[in-house]
Amino acid sequence: MSGNGCPVKHFDMLGEEFQTDPYAMCPALREQSVFYSPEHDAYVVTRFKDVDRILPDVEHFSNSNTVSPITPPTQEAIDVLMEYDYVLPPNLINADPPRHTMVKKYVADAISPRRLRALEPIVREWAGDQVDQMLTKGRADVFADLAFPLPAITGFSLIGFPREDIELLKSWCDNRIEFSYGRAEPSEQVRVAKAVGQFWQYTNEFVANRIAEPTDDFTSEMVARHLENPDEFGPRDIAAVLFGMALAAHETTTNLITNGLRQLLLNREQWDEIVADPSLIPNAVEECLRYDTPVVAWRRRAKEDITMDDGFVIPKDATILLHFASANRDPQQFPNAERFDIHRREARKHVTFGKGAHFCSGAPLGRMEMRVVLELLTERAPGMTLVPDQTLTYVPNIALRGPQRLLVDMEGVPAGVA
Ligand code: HEM
Repeated sequence: MSGNGCPVKHFDMLGEEFQTDPYAMCPALREQSVFYSPEHDAYVVTRFKDVDRILPDVEHFSNSNTVSPITPPTQEAIDVLMEYDYVLPPNLINADPPRHTMVKKYVADAISPRRLRALEPIVREWAGDQVDQMLTKGRADVFADLAFPLPAITGFSLIGFPREDIELLKSWCDNRIEFSYGRAEPSEQVRVAKAVGQFWQYTNEFVANRIAEPTDDFTSEMVARHLENPDEFGPRDIAAVLFGMALAAHETTTNLITNGLRQLLLNREQWDEIVADPSLIPNAVEECLRYDTPVVAWRRRAKEDITMDDGFVIPKDATILLHFASANRDPQQFPNAERFDIHRREARKHVTFGKGAHFCSGAPLGRMEMRVVLELLTERAPGMTLVPDQTLTYVPNIALRGPQRLLVDMEGVPAGVA
């Protein structure tokens, strides 16, 4: 058997139904371990057990397609990319062993606990000021005021990108999501390709500057690895790592903050619990990561024909979509999976950061940012509420999901005000 038909009428991850509520259809999807989606020309894996097994299996599954455009670029868009010399060599998220193993070690050493500890005060100070400004305004947008800029400031500080370039970099990143995971219309593709090309050029120039004048940032550590090993790890390889990291570091965390805070405020009694006892925050962060995942799906390529437990065959070279949103709500793994519960003992067992060799290098950073945001909000704005009846909108794409606006009424006291 070469896969089976979709158990729901229409499975389009870029469609409004999926974007608004990807969870409603999951119980029906999980009736089969895998199904073929003609909309995405991909095999969709739905159950926790299989997603959890495939993620670390680098022998049978490749990461080579994780950032490839789901919509093939038009010839005009390819021409634009060539003008910017855009060729992304496999290095980390899109690489397989042995290449991946070497680069991952460099990255793991560079995102050291020391470097993370140095970032926490930056996060706390910047987010604290923002929370105070939100309190002054009364009605605030969690997305624009906090969740959108904070991970960019943090992630780009780690990399070393100058703060004054943040707006530019963010706008380029939005285009990259459209390029890799969205369905840009042919008329839009040249604009998107131009932004991707400009970002690539910027990153290469930044690496050249750091080679000339290293500092103490993550990029300079990559430069040191390059100087030790110039033939194996060149300037373009460093640029590829930064290019991946720049995107990985922030849209994900933005979505964690907006989706997670929304769930906590919708489940008011649980919000009140973390206000009363902040030691509950770390497990609440895990439940936010599980219940309303910032990454709804992630790709793999089958290196050979793969037979699933129920006999369905995923053919060699097929694209596989690991349905994180469905896996994280699988009742076989999480009792009462549809219930948001900050006390859940197995909350941390979600697949949201991946598993195995490709496990997210920034997981401690994403977790720290969310924890600090919740510590600040519960302390300074314990009475905050969601504005009722607001319509949430999402950027249609197959990987990352979070609302583009989240209005709240702030109630509390800014720091330093008696
Ligand atoms: C809530 C926040 C985050 C989520 C949900 C998330 C999720 C993920 C996922 C699903 C993967 C792919 C794993 C795979 O292919 O098996 C990944 C990889 C990665 N993430 Fe994150 N991420 C987050 C934050 C961050 C941050 C803050 C950084 C940067 C410091 C980061 C850097 C990376 C890198 C470098 C990889 C590639 C790892 C590899 O292929 O070995 N991520 N992340």
